[in-house]
Amino acid sequence: MKYIIGNWKMNGSRDLAWKLTLDLHQYVAAEGRGDAKMVLCPPFAYLPLMQDFLSRHQSAIGLGAQDCHAQSSGAFTGNISAPMLADIGCGYVILGHSERRQYHAESDAQIALKVKAAQGSGLTAVLCIGETMAERQGAQTNAVLSQQLNGCLSPLPDAAKLIVAYEPVWAIGTGLNANADDIESAHHHIRQELIRHFGPGGGKISVVYGGSVKPSNAKATLATPGVDGVLVGGASLQFADFRDIYAACA
Ligand code: 13P
Repeated sequence: MKYIIGNWKMNGSRDLAWKLTLDLHQYVAAEGRGDAKMVLCPPFAYLPLMQDFLSRHQSAIGLGAQDCHAQSSGAFTGNISAPMLADIGCGYVILGHSERRQYHAESDAQIALKVKAAQGSGLTAVLCIGETMAERQGAQTNAVLSQQLNGCLSPLPDAAKLIVAYEPVWAIGTGLNANADDIESAHHHIRQELIRHFGPGGGKISVVYGGSVKPSNAKATLATPGVDGVLVGGASLQFADFRDIYAACA
């Protein structure tokens, strides 16, 4: 199974959410493939209207959020919990995105608790890890990936409800897609770490790539050994671009 996950970040409108969901649903219903799963992760505000549409049309498209709180309820103004996401029909949640780490100072330990909370509500956690440009230039990529996985996988979550996203921070929103060798090497390292943590079950966890994925590089990225899908930011907001990235699975 290849995952094609769209992370809208803090973008979109009610109109765009309607239109993009409708267009993508119609495309996937007509041309969809059993071995490719499209998942849309809009801002919280648009989840209910998109979920209503997708469930009414029995769509094959999955729905996810971009964060959740580690607690299930309480005095946490402005936050949304994993049981709430499950309650409105979400199946996925992106956790530990580098923008959350950077702008909200999220630590690996906090992310680990969110992963457990998400899975406890039946959600699949899309756990993001990745090195900065300085870390890459200092040949620290593998060390950073190991450190983030050690922190985010303790306590050990459920391998069956986990997707790992390799998102080199320097490739996000910059137009600099990591090259195939970089991606293959990082994914191989992540795979070894997952097997170390989970045993044979770690061999089955999907590891997707994110960072400036576009129609022009999607085919090569998706064909890179060890790549089980893509996590797409900017290009997921354009129907034709996201459709073409999905179609590049073929
Ligand atoms: P871009 O595809 O815009 O580089 O964003 C990648 C990303 O951060 C997805 O989570």
